[in-house]
Amino acid sequence: MASFKTKIPEYKKLIDDCLEDSLPNHDQSPQKLSQAMLYSVMNGGKRIRPLMMLASAKTLDINIDDVLPFATSIELLHSFSLIHDDLPCMDDDSLRRGLPTTHIKFGEATATLAADALQSLAFQNMALAKFPESKISHLRLISMIAESIGSSGMAGGQSLDLDSENKKLNAKSVENIYMLKTGRLLRASILTPTYFKKLSEEKLKALNNFSEAIGIAFQIQDDLIEAEGDFETIGKSVESDKSKNKAAYPILFGINQSKKRVEELYQKASDSLSIFKGSSSSLEEMAKIIINRKL
Ligand code: IPE
Ligand code: IPE
Ligand code: MG
Ligand code: MG
Repeated sequence: MASFKTKIPEYKKLIDDCLEDSLPNHDQSPQKLSQAMLYSVMNGGKRIRPLMMLASAKTLDINIDDVLPFATSIELLHSFSLIHDDLPCMDDDSLRRGLPTTHIKFGEATATLAADALQSLAFQNMALAKFPESKISHLRLISMIAESIGSSGMAGGQSLDLDSENKKLNAKSVENIYMLKTGRLLRASILTPTYFKKLSEEKLKALNNFSEAIGIAFQIQDDLIEAEGDFETIGKSVESDKSKNKAAYPILFGINQSKKRVEELYQKASDSLSIFKGSSSSLEEMAKIIINRKL
C-alpha cells in the first residue's frame, strides 16, 4: 500500500479544491471581503490540520469523502485564527506565508470581518455536511469542534499567550498554553473521524493522548523554526516572539532543551498509537512530518 506521505500532494489538492468551492468568488459582493477571505485561505498553507484528519480517518478506516467537509472547515477555522493572531492588537505581524498579512493587505476592519466570515462559513459547512451516523453524533461533533476554538480551547490559549508576554513561566504553564492555543484544534482534527464509528474507550484515549503530545510538539517546533529559521524559508517574521518577549519555549528554556522536549513528546505520541497495531502508519507519518518540519 502506498504510504500516506506519497499521497499528500493529492490530498492537498483535494483539500484546496474543497476550500475553493466553499469560499466566495473574487467578484462576489462585497468584493473586498470575498477577496480578503480568499487571500487568507488560498495562499500556500501546509494544510496540516486537514491532513491530520485524513490520516486519522485512514487509521480508523473511515471514508475520506465523509470527513472532507469537516477537514475543510477546520482549515477555515485555522485561517480565521491566523488573521486574528497577526492583528496589531495581538502579535502585530506583517508577513505570513511570505506575503503581507491580511490586515496589511486589506486593512484591519476588513481583516477582522474576513475572520468572522470564515468562522461562520466553517460552521455553515459543517451543519450542511452529509453525515452517515446519527443526528446526535453530528451535533456532538460540531459542538466538540466549537469547544476546541472557544474559551477553553484556542481562544483561551491565545488569551493566556498574550498575558504571558514578559513573564518567566515554567515549562508546565507554557505547555498548557500550547496545548490550548494550538493543540486543541489539532486534536479536534484528529478526533473528528471518531464521530463516524463506535470505538472502544481505549482507542479514544489513545488518540486523545496522541493528539495532546503532538499538539504541544507542533507548537514547540513552530517556535524552534522561528528561532532558527530564515524569513525566505518560513515566510513569516523570525523576530516575532523575541521582540515581544513571548513565553516561547526556546526563549525560556533554550534551543537544545526545546529539541529534546519535541523528541520526548514525539515518542509519547508514537507510543500511544501502539493499540492500533500497524493500522496507524498514516498518523505516525504525519507525526514525523510535524516534528521534522523546517517550515
Ligand atoms: C501556524 O500554523 C500557527 C500555529 C498554530 C503554530 P501552521 O504552521 O499550520 O501554518 P500554515 O497554515 O501552514 O501557514
Ligand atoms: C499561533 O501561534 C496560534 C494560533 C493562531 C491559534 P503563534 O503566534 O506562535 O504562531 P505564528 O508564529 O504567528 O504562526
Ligand atoms: Mg500568537
Ligand atoms: Mg503569531
